[in-house]
Amino acid sequence: MKRVLVIGDTGGVVQAIVQTLLDRGDDVVGLSRSRDGLDVTNEHTVARQFGLLDGFFDLIFVATGALSVNDQQPEKSIRSLSGAALMDQLQANAVGPALILKHSIRLMPRDRPCVFAALSARVGSIGDNQIGGWHSYRSSKADLNQLIHGASIEIARTHPLACCACLHPGTVETSFSADYAKSHKRTPAPVAAANLVAVMDELSRKDTGGFFDYAGKTIPW
Ligand SMILES: NC(=O)c1ccc[n+]([C@@H]2O[C@H](COP(=O)([O-])OP(=O)(O)OC[C@H]3O[C@@H](n4cnc5c(N)ncnc54)[C@H](OP(=O)(O)O)[C@@H]3O)[C@@H](O)[C@H]2O)c1
Repeated sequence: MKRVLVIGDTGGVVQAIVQTLLDRGDDVVGLSRSRDGLDVTNEHTVARQFGLLDGFFDLIFVATGALSVNDQQPEKSIRSLSGAALMDQLQANAVGPALILKHSIRLMPRDRPCVFAALSARVGSIGDNQIGGWHSYRSSKADLNQLIHGASIEIARTHPLACCACLHPGTVETSFSADYAKSHKRTPAPVAAANLVAVMDELSRKDTGGFFDYAGKTIPW
């Protein structure tokens, strides 16, 4: 049985993951913005909620994120870039999960394996970007990847058995993707959840700092 902390447990992907973990007997603690007032863009709310937590977690999973903040739609062209929209995306998708990692370190055991995993997105890969567009969202996920990768290097010094990783869930049938991914094949959330749980179960210290898809395959930066 694993002790698991899930941040953003109201989202479409994560609800299926929580159910998968509960079904196999894991002890799951969830925190969300809508239920607990934990807004990842507001460090005071993160500190307040994390201050209520004790003990160590085997898995800390960050499933928050947004493709559209304040009704700003993903850009089809750089001509429609707005500085405010870009900053909102960076706050939601990069700064937020990085603050969660900052406050998670004291909950990660030093003497046994643990995993910190954050949901990123393949579109955050610069090497994989062949079509442009979605500039703010792409940038925010690329920034998230850099933050988790960089932090993993220093965390390895104090937590040598830990793995900090970014994961791409695939294009999943959630409200998140409903308006933007109609032309893509979308994976049902329970299938995506089973895939991600299998990947997280296999992560170990040799994978720390990595960026992996739902099949455990490395995604280029
Ligand atoms: N769905 C896909 O096809 C897909 C593809 C690639 C990557 N992803 C990534 O997977 C993650 C989850 O996606 P999803 O489809 O499950 O999205 P979703 O159903 O829209 O859920 C988003 C979650 O993020 C939380 N959230 C958003 N902003 C927050 C904030 N400032 N503070 C705290 N919580 C916040 C929401 O919390 P509340 O409901 O409590 O407000 C909700 O739990 C995202 O990072 C997304 O980029 C998804």
